[in-house]
Amino acid sequence: MDKFQISGGRRLEGEVRASGAKNAALPILAAGLLTDRPLCLRNVPELHDIRTMLKLLGRMGVSATEAGGGEVRMDAGALTEAVAPYELVKTMRASILVLGPLLARHGEARVSLPGGCAIGARPVNLHMSGLEAMGASVSIEGGYIHATAGRLRGARIVQDTVTVTGTENLMMAATLAKGRTVIENAAREPEVVDLAACLAAMGAKVSGAGTDTIIVEGRERLDGCEHRVLPDRIETGTFLVAGAITRGRVRVTGAEPAHLDAVIAKLREAGARVAVGPDWIEVDMPRRPDAVDIRTAPHPGFPTDMQAQFAALNAVADGVGTIVETIFENRFMHMLELRRLGADVRIEGHTAVVHGVPRLSGAPVMATDLRASASLVLAGLVAEGTTDVQRIYHIDRGYEHIEAKLLGLGADIRRAPGPAT
Ligand code: UD1
Repeated sequence: MDKFQISGGRRLEGEVRASGAKNAALPILAAGLLTDRPLCLRNVPELHDIRTMLKLLGRMGVSATEAGGGEVRMDAGALTEAVAPYELVKTMRASILVLGPLLARHGEARVSLPGGCAIGARPVNLHMSGLEAMGASVSIEGGYIHATAGRLRGARIVQDTVTVTGTENLMMAATLAKGRTVIENAAREPEVVDLAACLAAMGAKVSGAGTDTIIVEGRERLDGCEHRVLPDRIETGTFLVAGAITRGRVRVTGAEPAHLDAVIAKLREAGARVAVGPDWIEVDMPRRPDAVDIRTAPHPGFPTDMQAQFAALNAVADGVGTIVETIFENRFMHMLELRRLGADVRIEGHTAVVHGVPRLSGAPVMATDLRASASLVLAGLVAEGTTDVQRIYHIDRGYEHIEAKLLGLGADIRRAPGPAT
C-alpha cells in the first residue's frame, strides 16, 4: 500500500486548478441509468471512487468509457442486471445511489446494504422509506436491499434528517414516477443542485433544488444529455487550508466561490486575507493562524467534509479552537493521529478541543478515511521533519492527483511504497 512522505516546512505558493466534484459526478453517473439514451459528461475527476462507479455500471451492462480529459460517455441502453454487489458497495457507500434510478427505470433493484463505516453508522433508512412512499416494496434479503415496483408514483416525502445521497436517490427516482413528488427537508448541497441541472438537461422537470423543498413532476422517459460537473468545493477548500497552514499564498482556479462561503468566513476569522474572483479564490496567510471554532451543519453551514482540515489548521494556530461535529458520530479519528504529530487535542463526545501548539513534528501516521487523510497531509506540510502518511488509498478515492498539485505549489511530497498490511 502506498504512502506519502512529506518533508514539512515549505511555504506553499502559486495556482492550482480545482477538479470536478466527486460528490456530484457520482450521482450524475447513477442518473445515466434513468435513460436508454447516451450521456456525455465533462469535468469528471479521475478518482478511485469514480472508477468504482464505472465498474459497478459496467457490471449492469452499461457501457461507460473514459474518453480522456475528464470526459465520460455512458449508455445504459442495454441494461442487463439491476444488482449492486457487496464487493463494490463495501468499498464505496455511494453505490447506494443506483437504487433509485434502477428501481424507477427497471422496476426492480438489488443493492447490497452498506454496513457501518469509519465515520459512523450511516444508515440508509430514509432512502428506503422514501421509495416505499412512492409505492415500492422494499425488503432486506441476504444483506441486500431488494426493491420492486410497478411504475413509481409521486408522493410527499418529509425527510426527518437532511441526507444528501438520500435526497439525490429520491429526486432521481421521482423523475420517472407518475405524478408529482415533493421532497421536504431536502439537502441543499451544491451537488444536489448540479444533479438537478443534469436531470433537467435529460428532460426531467425538477424545481426547488438548492432549497429545502424539491418538486419533481414525473415523466414517462428521459433523454440523454451533455453535462459539465461542477468544481469540487471540498478539494478547493482543502487547498485553501494548505495555503493558510503553511503561511503561504495559494490561488485555486476553476472554482465556484459561492459554494465556499462558510469555509472562506472561517479562513478570514483565522487571519487569512481571502480574495475572490468570478471563478477563483486566493488565500494569503501572512502570520500564524488564529484558532477558530467550527460547528458542522448541512449546507450552507460549515461542511463536515472540511472539519478535519480545520482541525489541522487549529493544531498549529494561536489559541484554542473547538470543533463540534453534528453530522457523523465518529468523525474524530484523525484527531488521534494528529496527536502523534504533537497536536494538543482533547475529545469530549462530539466536541474536539484543540489547543494550538507552535510546532508539530513529523511522524508516521495512518489515514482512516478520506477527509482524515487530507488533514494528515496538511499537518505533514507544516510538521518539522518527515511525516509518512500511510494508507493513502483513502485519499486517492477523492483527491485527483493531489501530490502533483501540491508539488506544483512547492510542497515536498512523494508517493512511496508503504508497509504491507
Ligand atoms: C454525503 C457525502 C459525504 C458528506 C455527507 C454530509 C456523497 C457521495 N457523500 O454523504 O461526503 O460527508 O453527505 O455532507 O455525496 N442518515 C440517516 N438515514 C439515512 C441517511 C442518512 O439517518 O437514510 C443520517 C446519517 O447517518 C448522517 C446524516 O443523516 O448522520 C447525513 O448523512 P448523509 O447526508 O446521508 O450523508 P451521505 O449522503 O452518505
